[in-house]
Amino acid sequence: MTPGVRPLIAGNWKMHGTLREAAALAEGVRAGAAGLAADLLVCPPFVHVQVVAAAMLGQGVAVGAQDCHPAPKGAHTGDVSAPMLRDLGATHVILGHSERRADHAEADATVRAKAAAAAAAGLVPVVCVGETEAQRLAGEAEAVVTAQLAGSLPDGFAGIVAYEPVWAIGTGRTPTEADIAQIHATIRGVLAARFGAAGQAMRVLYGGSMKPGNAAAILALPNVDGGLVGGASLVAADFLAIARAVPAA
Ligand code: 13P
Repeated sequence: MTPGVRPLIAGNWKMHGTLREAAALAEGVRAGAAGLAADLLVCPPFVHVQVVAAAMLGQGVAVGAQDCHPAPKGAHTGDVSAPMLRDLGATHVILGHSERRADHAEADATVRAKAAAAAAAGLVPVVCVGETEAQRLAGEAEAVVTAQLAGSLPDGFAGIVAYEPVWAIGTGRTPTEADIAQIHATIRGVLAARFGAAGQAMRVLYGGSMKPGNAAAILALPNVDGGLVGGASLVAADFLAIARAVPAA
């Protein structure tokens, strides 16, 4: 945790669920959202954003998408713009997730342009960074993350950063608590150096195999201001259990 920063527990639903399942999951999260020590955010697939945003309206659960195009509109077949997402009721957007960096060859410059587009549309960008296993084994984790931050965050960035080591995503493996704390301290230093007081107070989430069983220990670490949860966010009870693992301020 960072003093004075309210934690955020964010669910990345990735490419899962029918519309009916998304609505049921949203209802399960909504029903348990009151009285937590953290804010909640759920990020369904594009096609479910409108229904989930309508279900969460006024319920204290924010809704985000998992990507957006860098342009506000245009001839970009198959893409979705940030203003479209804002229009549907989204308030956040995940950008630069390692699955998009890998599946769609998204470079830092693309992520940076998307983050600027999101902010221009009134969305809070949640920018993901994280090293591969080979990079960690080579001792390059901090250098990789530092370079990703430099390249992926636009000037004036006022969003959220998520540290997601690629090798921890969906694997059941997590870095040691000391390793998480070390990278988060590095990220904090980068953010503070570039954005000053805003960087000191910027939320830095941890993501990668966060579960009810390991959440309390991870969420208590310095500079860990919440989580970006994949698999466990698809079960409302598990997602809420992670949120309840946030230490009281
Ligand atoms: P898992 O929680 O399934 O490891 O996924 C993490 C993630 O990629 C969230 O964006």
